[in-house]
Amino acid sequence: MQLKGKRVLITGGTRGIGRCMIQELIDQGVSHIGIIARDKKSLKELSEGYPEVKFIRIAGDVANIDILREAAARIEDKWGYLDVLINNAGIVSAGPTEELLDEDIYDQVAVNYTAILLLTKYCIPLLKNAEESAILNISSGLGLIGMPFYSVYGSTKAAVRQFSDSMRRELAPFNISVTCSFPTATDTDMMQKFEGVEMDTPEYVAKKSIEGLVNKELHVIFGGEQRIKDVEMNFSDPKKFDAQVAKTYDQFKQSSEGHKAM
Ligand SMILES: NC(=O)c1ccc[n+]([C@@H]2O[C@H](COP(=O)([O-])OP(=O)(O)OC[C@H]3O[C@@H](n4cnc5c(N)ncnc54)[C@H](OP(=O)(O)O)[C@@H]3O)[C@@H](O)[C@H]2O)c1
Repeated sequence: MQLKGKRVLITGGTRGIGRCMIQELIDQGVSHIGIIARDKKSLKELSEGYPEVKFIRIAGDVANIDILREAAARIEDKWGYLDVLINNAGIVSAGPTEELLDEDIYDQVAVNYTAILLLTKYCIPLLKNAEESAILNISSGLGLIGMPFYSVYGSTKAAVRQFSDSMRRELAPFNISVTCSFPTATDTDMMQKFEGVEMDTPEYVAKKSIEGLVNKELHVIFGGEQRIKDVEMNFSDPKKFDAQVAKTYDQFKQSSEGHKAM
């Protein structure tokens, strides 16, 4: 897929990986961008930085169904179709499951998962109106392997993986490709409160994810060869993988303590 002149809707494009994906999209010639994020000021500043691009700014929470409906309606009114949908916005609250706040559990499911189901649903007719279109969903390495202290975040991200696979098969007859990206630790605001691991840069994760979208890759998996081996072991011999996780339990517990970006 060529991005020149294309029309893209992205959630959470004002910071981190989403912000870098916007730069990448513009570098590749995208001319129209719709963005949903909560902070009005960042949306305004971002769009003012690219006078050559036409923006539709939707200030609001993706957990609010009206905001998602408004986004799809405004795109239908202004553009009539959509080439690319990027479901990127995400939040995290880690910790022992029994200590998680009930609201944080609800919000992670609403933002990381339910919003993707609904926004995709509303955008499918618009994507069908384009000649060739694509969806990029940002999951997480924690959506491939369930880790302790990320039970809720990880299961929302695993659900995104499953939804992506279903959508890819369902939308194949309509020339709509679906790519799912699985970043591991990436140096963004989301990771400010996570200690002690080497991280990818958001620029790198954005570049590879957009490359995956353009090349219609099914999955973009970060973390190198070791990650692929871990995913395979987690599937073929989960008890062996459990033993491996048990060795770093305390260290993982400590580094995930207070890891919250909501
Ligand atoms: N960073 C990592 O290590 C990592 C690893 C794996 C996967 N991921 C995934 O990658 C995606 C991007 O993460 P990031 O690290 O770039 O995050 P980030 O730096 O915290 O940026 C999050 C973006 O999403 C927007 N956002 C957050 N909650 C929102 C909501 N309720 N409604 C609308 N917009 C919302 C934020 O804008 P506002 O605050 O203005 O709304 C911001 O633009 C997420 O899905 C995350 O789960 C990240």
